Amino acid sequence: MVLLEKTVDVSRVVQFEEWEKLAKENIDHNAFTYIQSGAGREETLRSNEEDFRKIKLIPRYLKDVSNVCLKTNILGETLPYPFMIAPVGMQGIAHRDGELATARAANALKVPFIASTVTTYSLEEIAAELPDTIKWFQLYWSGDWEITASFLHRAEKAGYSAIVVTVDTPLLGWREKDLTNGYSPLKVGKGAGNYFSDPVFLQRLKRSPQEDSTAAAEEMIKLVLEPKLTWDDIRFIREYTSLPIIIKGILHPEDAKQALNYGVDGIVVSNHGGRQLDGAISSIEALPAIVEEIQNKIPVLLDSGIRSGADAVKALTLGADAVCLGRPFVYGLAAAGQEGVSQVLQNFIQDLKVTKSLT
Ligand SMILES: Cc1cc2nc3c(=O)[nH]c(=O)nc-3n(C[C@H](O)[C@H](O)[C@H](O)COP(=O)(O)O)c2cc1C
Repeated sequence: MVLLEKTVDVSRVVQFEEWEKLAKENIDHNAFTYIQSGAGREETLRSNEEDFRKIKLIPRYLKDVSNVCLKTNILGETLPYPFMIAPVGMQGIAHRDGELATARAANALKVPFIASTVTTYSLEEIAAELPDTIKWFQLYWSGDWEITASFLHRAEKAGYSAIVVTVDTPLLGWREKDLTNGYSPLKVGKGAGNYFSDPVFLQRLKRSPQEDSTAAAEEMIKLVLEPKLTWDDIRFIREYTSLPIIIKGILHPEDAKQALNYGVDGIVVSNHGGRQLDGAISSIEALPAIVEEIQNKIPVLLDSGIRSGADAVKALTLGADAVCLGRPFVYGLAAAGQEGVSQVLQNFIQDLKVTKSLT
């Protein structure tokens, strides 16, 4: 795989579509397709954006907007803006500095960062780039509890302040374009940062990743996703971490109720950016019934389809406490590394400020 990484002047790039175009021009075709595409016929991928367009804001005026505050409080921590960086794995396919570049940009702007399990760099390396902002760790809990426990222990030690458990991925979605391209970043070792640095995982290998990277990657792939997990397994995570637990991937109000029953500390309404169940409801359409079920008992975040300040304000107006930004920052990363992510985040913050002031 070749990362072209041309130097692009992004100081005037504003629109999502332009970032997408630059990303497409700048990186390997299969890597770009992996980031952009969704599962199946991409119905959910499209609904995620289209359903935001169906919701209209009705502004109120003459209420002094000279000092609009965007701060929000989640699980005892103050976020400067009501959004976070969504967990996105394998950022090394977008730029050689991967998550480190994204983390540097987020840290400089104090935007909270959620690190994926399947990162190109290790959770400790990423945490080192995030001294000044909130950081959460997203867990793909494996059937191998010792490795899961090791990840939880490492995340806590590295200073992550919450665990985001992604539940919509008991197995990988049917991603037709990646199947056509025969492309899997996990197979080429781009998501191995946490595994190849884990003492428990390394003990499982006959030969080290340096000696046999293909065998190590194969061993890792067996561990990333686990179809057997059920709600009762949340108890295991509770046993191994004292950090708050947030469930990511809730779309049904009954699952929101289950989250409350199991005592989790927050949820993310998400369909994984249309990458898992094609035909699934868009996150923004799912939100109101879930907010109704949760009744402000725990924080509700939302992702999938957030492209602008107006999208975020619509989600907040419908009851989300915060949103997570996904593909927009990944395109910034692919277009221009840290600078690209920084530009995407700065634009998003300004857009949020303007939109909040005008509603
Ligand atoms: C390339 C890519 C990789 C992703 N990797 C992960 C991951 O490792 N863990 C996870 O929970 N979600 C992952 N997601 C889903 C995001 O966290 C988020 O739910 C999604 O990007 C939201 O959709 P949007 O980007 O269209 O707004 C990934 C998304 C993309 C595009």
